This record gives sequence, structure tokens and C-alpha cells, in this order.
Amino acid sequence: MQGADWHIGVIGGSGLYAPGGLDDAQTITVESPFGAPSGTVTTGTLSGIRFSFLARHGEGHRQSPSSINYRANIDVLKRCGVTDILALSAIGSLRENIAPGEFVAVDQLIDRTLLRERSFFGEGLVAHVGLADPVCARFSAMAATAAQAAGATVHRGGCYVAIEGPQFSTRAESHMYRGWAADVIGMTAMPEARLAREAELPYALLGMVTDYDSWRSDEAGVEVTDILKVMRGNSDLARATLRKLASALPAQRAPSPIDTALDHAMLTGEAQWS
Ligand code: ADE
Repeated sequence: MQGADWHIGVIGGSGLYAPGGLDDAQTITVESPFGAPSGTVTTGTLSGIRFSFLARHGEGHRQSPSSINYRANIDVLKRCGVTDILALSAIGSLRENIAPGEFVAVDQLIDRTLLRERSFFGEGLVAHVGLADPVCARFSAMAATAAQAAGATVHRGGCYVAIEGPQFSTRAESHMYRGWAADVIGMTAMPEARLAREAELPYALLGMVTDYDSWRSDEAGVEVTDILKVMRGNSDLARATLRKLASALPAQRAPSPIDTALDHAMLTGEAQWS
């Protein structure tokens, strides 16, 4: 099958509220039948590749992980025509060898969230999409390579446990997640990754490590001020990663099996984007 143009949707997390450096940048309001997204979308190009950026927590970091409308966020990026999503998120580390300041190209997810709309499907429209590999290996590898080229230390692969928050974990929970073989922890990748798959959008997640969570006995717990400090330091690296990604993407985007994930999803009824 012939390739097509890339259009990268970027969901920026804590500390990354604007993409910076896009050519011909435009800010647009995109409406969704799923309600209000986190904010406007900034769209423009880098090295001739279109990027559309959405700040996950909204302007001024006003939306908590539980109040983010994940469905609307994925829906508006789909409506913008993005082909792939790169999520950037602050994460805590559950492993000694994954240090604050480093990046993790997450490849597995455990969902411990409780209060969020997690599917586009429901009454009258049923689909059971496969989620064994919730992250797109192809796009994740490209993102990891771009982050490395930008100067980041990148761990390729890692299991992310998504908690509801807004509180950080207790020491007992943190130890439990380590026992579950989770490597990093955050509050937003679920249901984002689930919904991206339902929207047939390949999803990659670069987590930026801000802290060691609360499993280390010699350390105090997590402080949000420390997290924001590390994230601000990392935002230049995140922007440099986007520039490296743009210049390294193959000229044409070969189709991904995720582009047609719903073909294998026992779909009944009419999908939003069909
Ligand atoms: N985001 C950044 N650090 C975190 C942590 N330790 N737990 C949950 N979410 C986080």
C-alpha cells in the first residue's frame, strides 16, 4: 500500500504547555461530541511535518488527571487528522536504574484508574478492541531515537502503572506496584492509550522521570514542586525531541495495523469517524 503524510498529534503533560517553534502556527478551537477538550489545538509544521499540539492539563494546569476529558482530547486530535499520537508525561520511577531527568519510552501499561470514561463505545455501539500491545512499537522507537538525538537518556521499554491520584501513592502501594513489575508511575496514560487505540491512532508515550515515587526508605515522599522543577528543565529537551522527530521521520508514512484496529474489534453500530 502507498504511504501518506505524517501528522503528529502531541499531548503535552505537566510542564509542557506549548510546543514552541512551530512554523505557520495557528491556534484552533475544535469541538467534540464528547464534550470540551483540555483546550485549543496549536497546529503548525516542523521540517515540513504537521504537528498538532494539545496541553493535557489545559491552560495554567487547571485540569486534574481525574477531570481531564480524555475522550474529547483524542477525538479532537482525530478530527484534526492526526495520524499518530506522541504523549509526553511526567512520571515517577519505581526502579533504581531509572533516574529523575531521564526518559522512558513506555511499552506496557497497567490501569489502576477508577473514575474516568474509558471508551468511545457503549450502548448501541459495541467494540472490543485489542490492547495487548497498547503502544505502537514503530512510532515509540522513532520517538525514543529522537529523544536520544536531542540529548536525553532514554530507557526503551518500561511498564507504566496509571493511578487515579490526585494524591501520590503510599509507600505500601509503591512497593506493590514494584512487585507487579511496573517500572514507572503516572496519572494520565490511561485511559488515553485505550482511547487512542479505539480511535485507530498509533500511540507512543515518552515519560519524563521527575521523582522516585515513595518506595525508597531513605527518601521523603513525592513533592509536586520538585516534579514541576524537573519538568521545566525537561521542556526544552521535549521540544528538541519534537524537532529531531520531525527531521528523522521517513518522507512517507507506511500504514500501521493500528490504523485499522477496529476491523478486528467485533464492531456493531456506527463509529464516530467512519
Ligand atoms: N507523575 C510524576 N511523578 C509521579 C508519581 N510519583 N506518581 C504519580 N504520578 C506522577
